[in-house]
This record gives sequence, structure tokens and C-alpha cells, in this order.
Amino acid sequence: MARLVTEWVNVTGDISIIARESGEVWFHTPRGTKENVDPFATPMTGVGAMGSTVGLLDGAINLGFAGIEKRLARPDPTLVGYIVALAGAYHTSVDTPRNLRRAAGRFNELGRPEVAAYLEERAREETGHDRLALKDLRALGVPGERLVASFIPEGIKPLCKRFDDLCVQDYPIGCIGYSYCLERIAALKQETDIEKVQAMCPDDVDATRFLRSHSSLGSEATHVEETIEFVASLPANDRIKVVQETYESSLILAEGYNHELLKSEAEMLEELEQALGEALPYRHSSYLSHGEKRGARPAA
Ligand SMILES: [Fe+2]
Ligand SMILES: [Fe+2]
Repeated sequence: MARLVTEWVNVTGDISIIARESGEVWFHTPRGTKENVDPFATPMTGVGAMGSTVGLLDGAINLGFAGIEKRLARPDPTLVGYIVALAGAYHTSVDTPRNLRRAAGRFNELGRPEVAAYLEERAREETGHDRLALKDLRALGVPGERLVASFIPEGIKPLCKRFDDLCVQDYPIGCIGYSYCLERIAALKQETDIEKVQAMCPDDVDATRFLRSHSSLGSEATHVEETIEFVASLPANDRIKVVQETYESSLILAEGYNHELLKSEAEMLEELEQALGEALPYRHSSYLSHGEKRGARPAA
């Protein structure tokens, strides 16, 4: 019987993630002694397998979020917070196809057509997702184009910059780690999460297009599966870089999301209204009144 694959990656100075094909994952702090040479002290060189690669990728995300665990904000969801989230969703989607194509072009130059083909396919799949967020905003009576032109949530800026930077690197393999991080977290959203948002929205308003497609119900779950399969097929050096970037991206994402979640509803409302130069049809935790649904129509 073939031996089960074990993979490992050092993600920070003293922590490595070790994952077995059977699904076991653990965090390892190298403690080399004279008698006991640490087998994980040198980078892995072997082949990957889906069972162990997913352990490394998800281990990297868990480790990234562990840093903010005690500070994690858990506010009650509000429509105002949801509008901010949609503006953030727009900004994390709008440049994705262009960025991925740029990275794909670089892999073609490097003689790695299989990586280029994977990235081009992802670029196709992600095309138009920014429009979903804009339609959701419009459905809520918010002039989406105008809002996103002058407003990007503070916590989302470093995330967008990270992706831009990764895609223009000489060897842009890290963009796969970034994308995995975002898609994996989106795919955790369940039907009940979407129902909660729907319950906050005015009757007859469908403002969950982006959320549905970026949840366990939409294409995100398939994207995650495909990425795991692709990463597992990469050479060890690439798998190491992808997992390290998944960790770095999850640190930025955890801090950024938390920064936004810690804001009060009044603070968020003020930011939105300042960007728009006009009042929103929402005041604290409520929709003005169902008779006054300014512009709240189902999006075309
Ligand atoms: Fe997307
Ligand atoms: Fe996706």
C-alpha cells in the first residue's frame, strides 16, 4: 500500500503547519536537539495530495485568525453594515479578472502554461462579480456606482493592495493563496446567513446576489474544491509559497474585517453619507418605512 502523503510548511518564524493526507493537521514549533533531528526543519520536497494540501491551506487561515480571536468583533448585523460590506465586496472583486490575467501572462512567459490556464479560467469565472454587488446596492436604493467611486472601507484597502501587489510580482504564485483565503471564508456562509440578511432587507427586495454566489450555495464552494486540487498538483516550492501567502492574506483579512466590524452603526452611516453627499434611506437599524422605499426596487 502506498504511504500516505505528509506535507509541511513553515509559515512564521517558529510555527510550521504539518498535514497528513488522512486529514490530521497540527502546528509544530521546531525544537531541534542533538539526539533528535527535526524532520520538518527543511522545506518539503515531495508531491502533494488533496487531503494534506487542504490541511495546510485551512491550517494557514486558522492560524491567521487565531491572532485576533480575543478581539473578534461580533456585532448584530445591520443593513448599514451590510451596505458597507457590499461596497467592500465590490472593491475586492472589481480588479480580480484583470489582476489574474496579468499573473497568467507572467506564467506564460515563465513557461508554466498549466498555471496560466488555471488563472485564466479563474479570471473568466470571477468576471462580473463586481456587478452583483452594485446590483445589490441598487436594489437597496443606494446609488452603487457613485458610492464605490468615492468610498472604500478602510479595512478593505490593505486587502486590495495585497492582491494588486501579488499579481505584479515576478513570480506571482502567491495570488492563488490570496484567492483561496477569500473564497474559503466566503464558502463558510450558509443558507441561514443569507436568510438573516434577507430578513433585514425590505420586503420584495433581492439584495443578496453577491452573497449567494459567494457562499456555500453558490460557485464559491466549487472554486475552493478546484483550487485545492490545483494546488495539490503543484511542485513543493509552489505549494509552500501558496500556503505562506494564504497565511499572510488571512492576517490582513482578519485585521481588516475586524476593523470594519468594530465600527458603530452611526459611524458607518456617517461614512456612507459623507461619501455620497446625501442621506441614505436608512436610519439606525431600520428601513425608513415600507411606504418610502426610495429607489428600493428589484434590480434589473
Ligand atoms: Fe467572486
Ligand atoms: Fe470565486
